[in-house]
Formats: sequence, structure tokens, C-alpha cells
Amino acid sequence: MAEKQMKYKNWLLETDASGVLWCHLDVAGKSTNILSTEVLEEFQSIVETAENSAPVGLVIMSRKDNGFIAGANIDEFIPLQESGGALEHIQHVHALFDRLEALSCPTLALINGFCLGGGLELALACRYRVALDDPKTRIGLPEVMLGIHPGFGGLMRLLRLIGPIQAIPLMLTGRSLDARKAKKLGIVDKVVAHRQLRRSAEIMLEQRPSLKKAGVLQNISNLPLVRPLLAKYMRSQLEKKARQDHYPAPFAILDVWEKHGGDDRAVLKAEAESVAEMFETDTSKSLVRLFKLQDRLKSKNPELEFKAEHVHVIGAGVMGGDIAAWCALQGMTVTLQDREPKFIAPAIKRAHTLFKRKLKQTRLVTAAMDRLIPDHKALGVEKADVIIEAIVENADTKIALFKDLESRAKKDAILATNTSSIPLDEISTQLNNPGRLAGIHFFNPVAKMQLVEVVYSAKTDKQWIDKATAFCQQISRLPVSVLSSPGFLVNRILTPYLLEAVALWEEGVSAEQIDKVAKNFGMPMGPVELADTVGLDICLSVSQNMADTLNIKIPEQLQQMVNKGNLGKKSSRGFYEYEKGKLKKNKNYVKSSLPDIEDRMVMRILNECVACLHEGLVEDSDLLDAGMVFGTGFAPFRGGPLHYAKARGVENIRATLKDLEDKYGERFRAHEGWQQVK
Ligand code: NAI
Repeated sequence: MAEKQMKYKNWLLETDASGVLWCHLDVAGKSTNILSTEVLEEFQSIVETAENSAPVGLVIMSRKDNGFIAGANIDEFIPLQESGGALEHIQHVHALFDRLEALSCPTLALINGFCLGGGLELALACRYRVALDDPKTRIGLPEVMLGIHPGFGGLMRLLRLIGPIQAIPLMLTGRSLDARKAKKLGIVDKVVAHRQLRRSAEIMLEQRPSLKKAGVLQNISNLPLVRPLLAKYMRSQLEKKARQDHYPAPFAILDVWEKHGGDDRAVLKAEAESVAEMFETDTSKSLVRLFKLQDRLKSKNPELEFKAEHVHVIGAGVMGGDIAAWCALQGMTVTLQDREPKFIAPAIKRAHTLFKRKLKQTRLVTAAMDRLIPDHKALGVEKADVIIEAIVENADTKIALFKDLESRAKKDAILATNTSSIPLDEISTQLNNPGRLAGIHFFNPVAKMQLVEVVYSAKTDKQWIDKATAFCQQISRLPVSVLSSPGFLVNRILTPYLLEAVALWEEGVSAEQIDKVAKNFGMPMGPVELADTVGLDICLSVSQNMADTLNIKIPEQLQQMVNKGNLGKKSSRGFYEYEKGKLKKNKNYVKSSLPDIEDRMVMRILNECVACLHEGLVEDSDLLDAGMVFGTGFAPFRGGPLHYAKARGVENIRATLKDLEDKYGERFRAHEGWQQVK
């Protein structure tokens, strides 16, 4: 029961009968709590109050259901990156958290939902942490994903709390943990059910359990003779995953610890200086830009009230099965239709594996399985709010299916196709209202690829594009609206790049070398391996689909390989060979001295991007960049292909294209759209 209440703009303070000061954070005007400068300034005044009034204990908690604190305010990063001042800001926060830590009363963070980045750093400056036992509780330091590292003292405090062997991998990957895992690692002290949250905090403050002392392993790993050896090993592991010139922040974490580990004040000082430096890197600027773009894709249309409860998916193959599982995982009722039950069974089995991996707790897995209903009789059609077709890529079959669906579906249900190559207007030819059909084009694997292309044609009624977009947001995917044209956006841009890789291969460059060059540029997977993974038959058919309209020449070898049944990974042989699904790479390949390998592949991408922009396939260059990063993994630290082109300089790109055109032919002719790229 509150004895006394005090209200700030973002905090509500309450002192209870036993003298504990409860600080409830409820950031004004935001759905999620973030640590903005304003929030921190108010918190400074709260700390001052606590210093002067010496409460029995101090608890920091959230008044928002969705979480504790999701991190720092990214909007405030951009001016700091542009005009400096990061170090000063960070040192200011260090001083504040130091004061919180130095309070004479015990302090406790009561964690529900997101407790990430700056949020966890604040919690780490408290003496105790109690977390809600719920899958939505996520605890972590994901700063590396923005090209920086923990900088509000979190680097030092996590190292101090759980030791380098546990703390460093968490910070290097930026991965977040659920409450139980965080407890196991010693990041939180207690994990409790919702009804026990407040009481648990009260008990901890009454009992004041002593803090855990650093273990033997922790002490040994910080010894001056051990640290360099351990750091060297960790650096060699890290180098397998990332290059320092592309992603310097994780390497900086290792540097700070290697130089100063064991000396908390020195780590804290170095942490501030290092993170301020990371702030200014091009990598961080690109990643922050992508974060903002992601926000743009997530931002909802306030005028639209659309919420799907029931999704009906037709076709339980690779895509349909995974789309259905994903929707059920997101809490929807899903009916999954195919021609016979035997075609649905494998999808249900895959869904079970996904649910177990994502939800972990048996009761949640069971509930998700209950939401996913096999439906070979198509009983779900009449009830669904969204109907997604993912049957074979055959226009006539799809046309017939949609004619039937239109007559049976609810009037306000979305009718969507997952086609990857058939024009929308062809599929809708037999509909009474062709303007109703939208494309909702997922990427494979559905659970991993965040991007969804919401495809529309000149006939599509805007309300269905808006609803399809809202649906994608509802299932936590990132929608980009794309005009229906061959290959849509992502496949259209990828195809010339993949074909250039095949051309290089025909000219004698090994698959290994081509892939290595692409990965050195920053691609997550080389183009040759990607072609093998997608399937060479699919690559061929997508290229053929686009060949007429886009004047693409298909390399002969590709056709020949498909004729021979060498379809890539699925047939154990494509450009590479595969053993039990595992790629057999030749480490001792002969290196070709052919020039221009990187530029040939990259320039095909950039030139096609400009063509797409010029044709108005997407609204603007930011959306195109977002599509390529979230749909293909295009080198995130470069901020997207057009961002990269602008950073490299349009004049430089045009000159490179001219040079390549002179050497290799008209496929490198600079698109006229470059004139508009600024
Ligand atoms: P798939 O061959 O794995 O699955 C198709 C499923 O549809 C099969 O289970 C089949 O039994 C069922 N089916 C066929 N006719 C049906 C009918 N009339 N009624 C009910 N079920 C029927 O195919 P996949 O790869 O899942 O592709 C499905 C759609 O998704 C295609 O339009 C494809 O272009 C598109 N797509 C595929 C991607 C991929 O990577 N495989 C990526 C993005 C889109």
C-alpha cells in the first residue's frame, strides 16, 4: 500500500508502509519503456532523493505490461553520431549508475518482458534482480547489433557478475535469454510467477541475501597470464564468424577485457572510451539506419483496424507448411489445407519441432499445436480472416482455386497468394473483384527470413494492400510493398547476381573462390552456395521467367546441369557436392587471377536496384535497402545496396560500370536511373 506518491513525467514513485521506495517507469507517449536522456535525467533526481532520504530499499520496475526497459533511445544515437558528444553522454550515465550502485539501501530491479541493452545495464547496477517467469521475458545486451557494445557500464558489470567465460559470448552475439536461463547463468537472482513478483522483491529486500562471490574459474580467467591466452582463443573463434573491418564492436569487447579484465574501474573507463569510438564507425551508422528502417516497416497504420484471428493456408508444402506453423506460433488459429491428409502430416511434424525450439515449455507447445488444425476438407475457408495460397507454381491451378475461394471466403477476408513468379493480374483473371487479390510473398525459411513482399498490381485495391501489410506486422514479419512484376523485388535483384556468379564459374573461377569473394564483401552466403541451396531448377525457372522482359542471358551450363538432374543441395550435387546434406568444400582450390570478380557481382546487384527504383517497384530507396538486407542478408554493415552505392559515390559506380561494360558487354550498361540517385 502506497504511503506517499510522487510523480515525474516518466516515473511514478511510491513509498510503502515499510519505507521501500518503488520506482515505476512508464515512459510518456511510448508503448515501450526506453532509456532516453529525459528518463535518465529524472532518474538522476530520483537517485538524489534516495541519497537524501535513505529509504529501506529501492525497487525499479515497469508500469508497462510489455516489458521492463527495451534499451537506450536509438533516436538519440543519430545526433551523437553526426556531431559527437557520445563520450560525454556515456560518462554522465556511468556516474549516475555508479551513484545508484553506491546507495546505502539495497536496490532491486523487478524485470518483466524486455530487459535489453541499457535496460539490463541499469538492472545490473542494482544489487538484486528478480525476473518474471514468462517466455516474453528477454534479458540481454544486444548492442553489437547496432555496431556498438554495452556502454552504460554493462560490459564491466556483466563481466564482474558472471565472469568472462559466460559474459563475453553473450555480449559478442548479442543474444537474449529467457528468465530461467538468465537465472542459471547468475544474471538474475530469482525467477517467479506474476502473482509473486512484488512479494518476492519485498522478501529479498527484507532478507538481503549476500551477493555471490566470484568463482574460482572467474578469478583464474582474469589472471594476467591467462587473459591473453583466453582472449586469443575467443578472438580466433570470433574471426570465424565476423571480420573486424566489417564488425569492429565485438572485437573491441575482447580488447577492453584483455587489457583491463579484473580491474573494474579500468574496465569501466575503457568501456566508455571504446563505445564512444564504436559510435562513430560507418558500421554503427549503417546498422542504426537499418534499425530505424526496421521500425518504419513495423510502424502501424493508425487508421486501420485489422486483426486476424484465423488464418487458412492452402498447400502444406515447404512454404505453406512453414507459413501455417509461423502463424500458429504467433498465436493465431490456423487451418492447413492440402489435397490429402498425408501431405499435411510432414508440415505438422515440422511445426512441432519449431514450437519446441521457440516455446520450450510443454504447455505452450501443446497450445500452439492445438491452434494448428489439419484441414484437408477446407472447412476453414469460410471462417478465416486471411487466406494464403501456397500450392504448386501453376497459373491455371491457382486461377481455379481463387475463383472458388472468392465465392466462399468471408467478404472482408484477405485473399493472398504466395506465388514467386506468376503475375498477380494473371491469377486474378477469373475473380469478380480482381482488385481483392494481394501477394504475400514469404521467403524460405519462413521462421528465419523477416522480409515479406506485399505484392500489388495496378488493379489491387489499396485497402487489401494495407490489410495485408497489417497482417504481416501482426505475425512479426517486415512487410515491403512491391509492384507485381517479374521476380518482384528481391528475386529480380538476386537473379543477375547469381547469373554473374555462374558466368564467372564458366570462365574457370572455382565456386569456392566466388563465394569467398562475396562473403568478404559481406554477404551471409556466397552466390554459388545460395544457388545450390535454393535449387538450380528453381534458379533456372525464375531466370527464364524474367529473361524475356529483362533481357537476361542464361548461362548454358545452368541449363545443362538441370538437364542432368544436378539440382544443387537437394540432389547432393550442383556446383558443389554434398554428403548427407553437408557441403564438401575444397579448401585447396586453385585461385584464379581473373580480375573484377567482386565488382562484376556487386555491380549487377546495384544496377538492378537502380532499375527497380526507376520502375517504381518500391516507394523509395530506403525501402529497397530494407528489402535487400532483411530479404537476402545483403551486407548489413554496408546499410543496404543503395546506401553503399551512395557512400562509394555514384560517379565511381558509373565509371566502374562503364569499365565493366567495355570489358564484358552490355549487361553492365549503367541504367539511366543512376542520374536520379543522389
Ligand atoms: P511444394 O511443392 O513444397 O508444396 C506445394 C503443396 O501444395 C504440396 O503439398 C501440394 O500437395 C499442394 N497442392 C498442390 N495443389 C493443390 C491444390 N489444388 N489444393 C491444395 N493443395 C495443393 O511447393 P512450395 O515450394 O511450398 O511452393 C508453394 C508456393 O510458394 C509456390 O507458388 C512457390 O512459387 C511459392 N514460393 C516458394 C518458395 C520456395 O523457396 N520454395 C519461396 C517463396 C514462394
